[in-house]
Amino acid sequence: MTERIFRIAIDGPSGAGKSTIAKAVAKRLGIDYIDTGAMYRAIGLKMLSEGLAMEESDALSDMLARTEIDFDRGNVFLDGKIVNDLIRTPEVSKAASDCSALGSVRSKLVELQRKMGHSKSVIMDGRDIGTNVLKDAEYKYFLTATAEERALRRHKEMLEKGQESDLAQVLAQIVERDHNDSTRALNPLRKAEEAEEIDSTHMTIDQVVDYICDKVQ
Ligand code: DC
Repeated sequence: MTERIFRIAIDGPSGAGKSTIAKAVAKRLGIDYIDTGAMYRAIGLKMLSEGLAMEESDALSDMLARTEIDFDRGNVFLDGKIVNDLIRTPEVSKAASDCSALGSVRSKLVELQRKMGHSKSVIMDGRDIGTNVLKDAEYKYFLTATAEERALRRHKEMLEKGQESDLAQVLAQIVERDHNDSTRALNPLRKAEEAEEIDSTHMTIDQVVDYICDKVQ
């Protein structure tokens, strides 16, 4: 019997729980998880460390041509080096959001993402998966939660990690990133018409994971 191949697209604003949920669904269904936000973060990190301006330039094209991004066993590799923690700082979050508005960055990463989602079952999360990267995905979800709830989750996460956090500041950053991500000209954050919206404000992670796995199985 040939194995059924299916793709699951999960889009939504930052902090809605996309990656936690996608990771758990992938594990339960035994399929690959591709965190496309981590790819924009890796490019943002490299632009910061090479001192590149957040605009199109020959230096940026050069840099993209010599950049490799990969995933292996839950690790994110940038040019062969694990960058899991380096890409999670507030500075890199901002750089990821800024560089994701650039056409050269998007075309490089979308091409890579399509290759990764080709000929095997995957769950991919991001902002433009259902509308652009995997337009023909068999399952599409748009995961949301109120900005206040998303800020509170991130704030608690930072405190648990022993990092300093100011709730009002976290909320302001989330609102700013929502605005950036949904108003940029190229493939902005948008719900695909056929995507099912899941509001996770009053749901636990397990409830959302169960819901998606029940639909797919
Ligand atoms: O999901 P995240 O917070 O790790 O994403 C980081 C940034 O990357 C986010 O601000 C928007 C951008 N992004 C994007 O433009 N398209 C995607 N498919 C995924 C992320």
